[in-house]
Amino acid sequence: MSQPTIESILKEKRLFPPSAEFSQTAHIKHLDEYQKLYERAAADPEQFWAELAESELHWFKKWDRVLDWQPPNAQWFLGGQLNISYNCLDRHLTTWRKNKAALIWEGEPGDSRTLTYAQLHREVCQMANVIKQLGVKKGDRVGIYMPMIPEAAIAMLACARIGAPHTVVFGGFSAEALRDRLVDAEAKLVITADGGFRKDAAIPLKIQVDKALEHGVSSVDNVLVVQRTGEKTHMEPGRDHWWHDLQAGVSGHCDAEVMDSEDMLFILYTSGTTGKPKGVVHTTGGYNLYTHVTNKWAFDLQDTDVYWCTADVGWITGHSYIVYGPLSNGATTVMYEGAPRSSNPGCFWDVVEKYGVTIFYTAPTAIRAFIKMGEHHPNARDLSSLRLLGTVGEPINPEAWIWYHRVIGGERCPIVDTWWQTETGGFMITPLPGATPTKPGSATMPFPGILADVVDLDGNSVGENQGGYLVVKHPWPGMMRTVYGDPDRFRRTYWEHIAPKDGQYLYFAGDGARRDETGYYWVMGRVDDVISVSGHRLGTMEIESALVSHPSVAEAAVVGKPDELRGEAVVAFVSLEDGYQGSEDLENQLKEHVVSEIGALARPAEIRFTDDLPKTRSGKIMRRLLRSLASGEEISGDTSTLQDRSVLDKLREGA
Ligand code: WTA
Repeated sequence: MSQPTIESILKEKRLFPPSAEFSQTAHIKHLDEYQKLYERAAADPEQFWAELAESELHWFKKWDRVLDWQPPNAQWFLGGQLNISYNCLDRHLTTWRKNKAALIWEGEPGDSRTLTYAQLHREVCQMANVIKQLGVKKGDRVGIYMPMIPEAAIAMLACARIGAPHTVVFGGFSAEALRDRLVDAEAKLVITADGGFRKDAAIPLKIQVDKALEHGVSSVDNVLVVQRTGEKTHMEPGRDHWWHDLQAGVSGHCDAEVMDSEDMLFILYTSGTTGKPKGVVHTTGGYNLYTHVTNKWAFDLQDTDVYWCTADVGWITGHSYIVYGPLSNGATTVMYEGAPRSSNPGCFWDVVEKYGVTIFYTAPTAIRAFIKMGEHHPNARDLSSLRLLGTVGEPINPEAWIWYHRVIGGERCPIVDTWWQTETGGFMITPLPGATPTKPGSATMPFPGILADVVDLDGNSVGENQGGYLVVKHPWPGMMRTVYGDPDRFRRTYWEHIAPKDGQYLYFAGDGARRDETGYYWVMGRVDDVISVSGHRLGTMEIESALVSHPSVAEAAVVGKPDELRGEAVVAFVSLEDGYQGSEDLENQLKEHVVSEIGALARPAEIRFTDDLPKTRSGKIMRRLLRSLASGEEISGDTSTLQDRSVLDKLREGA
């Protein structure tokens, strides 16, 4: 196969070392310490993870074997027995943390709830007892379709407690998407709510469940409904039950089921580039350990922290870093129901101020939205409690990084840019904030125990600063185990794209990257987001960064369109800052700006101004749609994950 080159053009040189003050109290304090850990883990990953499994988790029975690796199937801690809900709850009750805040929840209308570890334990046990009464047994799958309320986390932990794998479906998904996932997972029970509050409206949810089950999903016998909005809700007799009815009088004790380390913990669906969504399967022991340790080290979790991850529990970030990671660590985790909206663009900063949030974790798309809303919102709040910031989801433009650092972090908070995926369970490439000097736009270096590399299609490492495919060479505890019901797809998608080298299988993440002269990784985005202009492959994110660095540009998405001469030409979709108007003059200015930032190679052939970009519900720009638009093709394939269809319609009209 001919080898395309992937060229990186982002040249970001600024270096931000951790402050002495931060490092002093951090779990990992020096770059040396990270390097020693990394080397030790690389020399003997099994020993490294086994020591951590011993020191960080409670096991009912210790494992007989650390790892069984029959590519592409890995099993960790064979023969070991544990329960992740026990590790997240019960084990803290015998310590001073019993009455520590486990979950602080802020509702959008301004109501709030704090659950201590003891209270959360009681509610989880109650829900576990209720779902057992509804006939759910160990091994049965349960669908969870919830707004961001404490019961979403309670439902997940209750399922884990009785050994019923959950499949959380993001509350913004349509009835069809929900139905597909319930059918694929053969869910026996659905846990939902009447609705939730978002952007000043009560959004009904139960009605979507009714639609999903309209023509029957044969596996689903019961629906458990949490009352949140109080809106009038249809209840199907014999099938639907109010949580508050069944909760009344049920015992607050429920022993955690003894689970084998490799028993399935959950299925989480993630959309592939083509075809139906993949059910990513995670299991108990490895996932518990991996989310625990990565959360602790990369976010430097301390007992005094108030930790807030703004993701939704419907995504892997919510699973690993709102629920399981923080609670396993005995941390205080914040959950917010709402979203920044015109009536309160500063609501996130209100939450930070109200609870004295110390660690704040969000996505670049949110940061760009904050920039657009204006820094007077954060500036009007007291954000001095913050000591650490995080970002996830896509490469962060250096401009946005610097704004985040300056305006939100007050130039004192390290930023951890965490590269990982639904499939990896937890952080793979990330700074350890007390140890790793950061560079805006780089996720820096692999977590100890993660043997990452950048390779060509034959699996050979590419040179310094050469673009290539990001791979992992050794199994890690948090890795996905299979695609639910489709082991073949698991093998094909992740393990056969790059040829196994000397019998060594490489996990292919689907991202392009380069490693610079200091060993830092620069993730360039999905490989399918890479444009080839005259045989040079350009990371779309890098051209986007150049555009966003222009004062007029709020957000930019870059795609390729077929071009006879150059193979592909660059097309940029651009939304402007308030006060700017799209014009031919501005279009030329922006083209010249890209040329001066990157070089003539990257000059956009076309710039299209738009009010908004088409995004998935998790905030990722849907470049596939933009590519079709740019090349004048019909939009085909799945658009069910699109957040707002009208954006697409407007772009079409403007074409
Ligand atoms: C992208 C989200 C650059 C990447 C946890 C990956 C990132 C995909 C970063 C996984 C980052 C995530 N820098 N790119 N820090 N974090 N990505 O499964 O393309 O929703 O493959 O998991 O997001 O998305 P997923």
